[in-house]
Amino acid sequence: MNKFPLPQQQPLEPPLFLPQIADGEDKSSPFKNRIRKNYRHLRKWAKRTHTDCFRIYDRDIKEYPVAIDFYANYFLVHYFSYNHETDEIPAELVQEVESAITSIFQANADSIFARTRIRRKMTEQYEKIAEEKEFLYVHEYGVKFKVNLHDYLDTGLFLDHRETRQFIAKQASNKRVLNLFAYTSSFSVHAAIQGASYTKSVDLSNTYTAWSKDNFALNNLSLKNNEIVRADCLKFLDDEIRSGTKYDIIIIDPPTLSRSKKMDQLFDIQQDYIFLLQRSCKLLSKEGVIFFSTNSRKFSFDESLFPSCSIQEITKKTIPLDFHNQKIHRAWQIKSGKQLDEI
Ligand SMILES: C[S@@+](CC[C@H](N)C(=O)[O-])C[C@H]1O[C@@H](n2cnc3c(N)ncnc32)[C@H](O)[C@@H]1O
Repeated sequence: MNKFPLPQQQPLEPPLFLPQIADGEDKSSPFKNRIRKNYRHLRKWAKRTHTDCFRIYDRDIKEYPVAIDFYANYFLVHYFSYNHETDEIPAELVQEVESAITSIFQANADSIFARTRIRRKMTEQYEKIAEEKEFLYVHEYGVKFKVNLHDYLDTGLFLDHRETRQFIAKQASNKRVLNLFAYTSSFSVHAAIQGASYTKSVDLSNTYTAWSKDNFALNNLSLKNNEIVRADCLKFLDDEIRSGTKYDIIIIDPPTLSRSKKMDQLFDIQQDYIFLLQRSCKLLSKEGVIFFSTNSRKFSFDESLFPSCSIQEITKKTIPLDFHNQKIHRAWQIKSGKQLDEI
């Protein structure tokens, strides 16, 4: 598992990787059959939309509690463990998963990577897990992204927000867009491709701000109209309000919890969403809209704290077809004032 080196992909014009798979049913393996069925269905959609990164199995069968993501002919398997003390995964399960992938896709075992989705202590969340520095290049609705299946807990592209990115980007033409907690700036890159007049992406991490620059470059987008700022979003918001700048679209998709040496205090979505939304409202243009989202299962949105805002949950529109767990994230559209149009 997880062996490199990867064959070198060309970063500038990466081809779309969507292998054909053989027909057939394996009566002895409902797991293989499900992966095959999911992939065949998704491949048609993926070809049509020029996308080669998506989830091909999402804990569909109880006995196989894994999720498998396909990234341009590479596979990332998430093993879910419910025991907080250990990340031991049964060897037979690993073997069955690998055997299913290699036989269905005629894939090499070296193309399979794994993550254990145990609940890590929050200080570990964004730490590096290796240092191979090998990147892949994938497409999402024709937009290119650099991903890494090896070195970090996350890959550089959160697949569950594919439709959220598309939904927002479609509204971004000629708009000024602010992307808070931008990570590798995938929301901003999609918005810029769809004609946003200006994007600003804010993240605390040097690694991810550098990665963001690569994602813009990969899509031939100039950084002149697409600014990338390394800052603590909580401090950044006050500075930005003082500057008098306004935005038509503000994206807020923060971590659930985060602590960094660069931040004065712990970030906790359940506490800090109030500050984030109240401050962000002050940066909205007259017809502006905030897209707010969280992966926190426990999150509770107290709409009564924002009496002058129109708030609409849009989660049903943002969960992608390949994610069978409907609780992967929640998303809201928020307008300052009561002018929210039906969408
Ligand atoms: C879950 S990711 C956000 C996902 C991202 N919105 C996307 O579109 O893929 C969390 C990101 O928040 C950043 N971060 C955490 N605390 C921050 C803070 N106080 N200010 C700015 N960025 C922060 C991390 O560096 C990381 O890139």
